[in-house]
Amino acid sequence: MTSGPGTSVATPILELDDVRKHFRSGGGLFQKPTIVRAVDGVTLSVATGETLAIVGESGCGKSTVGRLALRLLEPTSGHVRFEGRDLGALDEAGLRRMRRDMQMVFQDPFASLNPRMTVAEIVGEPLWLHGMGTAREQRETTLDLLATVGLRPDHAGRYPHEFSGGQRQRIGIARALACKPRLVIGDEPVSALDVSIQAQVINLLEDLKERFGLTLIVVAHDLAVIRHMSDRVVVMYLGKVVEVAPTASLYKEPLHPYTRALLAAIPVPAPGVRGERRLLEGDIPSPAAPPSGCRFHTRCPYAQARCSAEEPALRDAGGRQVACHFYEDLPGDEAARLAVPADTSAKARRMALYRAHRERQDKGAAGATPSTEQ
Ligand SMILES: Nc1ncnc2c1ncn2[C@@H]1O[C@H](COP(=O)(O)OP(=O)(O)O)[C@@H](O)[C@H]1O
Ligand code: SF4
Ligand SMILES: [Mg+2]
Repeated sequence: MTSGPGTSVATPILELDDVRKHFRSGGGLFQKPTIVRAVDGVTLSVATGETLAIVGESGCGKSTVGRLALRLLEPTSGHVRFEGRDLGALDEAGLRRMRRDMQMVFQDPFASLNPRMTVAEIVGEPLWLHGMGTAREQRETTLDLLATVGLRPDHAGRYPHEFSGGQRQRIGIARALACKPRLVIGDEPVSALDVSIQAQVINLLEDLKERFGLTLIVVAHDLAVIRHMSDRVVVMYLGKVVEVAPTASLYKEPLHPYTRALLAAIPVPAPGVRGERRLLEGDIPSPAAPPSGCRFHTRCPYAQARCSAEEPALRDAGGRQVACHFYEDLPGDEAARLAVPADTSAKARRMALYRAHRERQDKGAAGATPSTEQ
């Protein structure tokens, strides 16, 4: 194994080694194709049994990393290893066997479930595809899986449209678990769900992780959702990793200016906390024409001349990694810290209530004031 930034954890179940995925788009007789640098040199390592969050704004390459990890996409360069085996060196049969051990839960449970299949067919299909057990055993396993994710036996004969968003995501999770995977990647598994349902699905994923000894990778576009479920966080910006840290230290002291901005964007439910909202300004630049030097320099409040000229490496920073020339010299960011509620379940509940309240307000319904009781 190559060691490098992000590879300091023990017993990796998954390793990405300087992985790039460049998509070619457009182009014709008189026009050069555009090269979209969706993932541009990502090195990271996932320890068996941990929950790793990958966070960054839409378009930064999170889903592409997930698909590269499962070899649903072939990397332009670099290596992906699952339990030490290079996926690029496997033949079709080897890859098929490996895929049983790695599964994905998708963002949109409706789009990812075949509308013409019953729930039993959807959940049981992987068993059938991989020839696992007799038809009778497959039926029994399917019913067990439905129970495991909190669905009833009489749900088995129904179709996806008969279910709520949360139930559909449970069906997607049951299907992902069918072949007893060791690694599950949730690609924004709750972001299409109502706020009130998000916590239920997160709790389910956490329970299943414990019960089946899974390793989880959870992809999210903000830092609010993953705080209470992840052990470590990888922050991505425009196809690059900009910070890797244990969750607690990342929330306590975000080092990279982009991480600070993501943290400051989390709403603050507690009354009296007036953390100045330092939201990111400007759109994320195109990965087809990433800014020179540090890719964040066009939006970074601390950018200096060196930032546009020289790309910062992902450097070790006391048990974590950060890619910023000046992270040691940045002013203390009180706003970012104020924006983070303390890590208690009461605060988490408050956060959920606050978000539900905000959502009701957004929908124009008469909403109650945010609850602040413990
Ligand atoms: N098949 C593809 N062809 C061309 N560009 C793509 C393709 N898939 C993703 N991209 C582009 O790559 C970038 C990263 O996409 P994605 O990994 O989906 O980001 P995220 O999941 O963080 O929102 C985006 O600019 C997206 O438009
Ligand atoms: S290297 Fe410069 S532009 Fe990039 S995050 Fe650090 S201060 Fe900001
Ligand atoms: Mg995505």
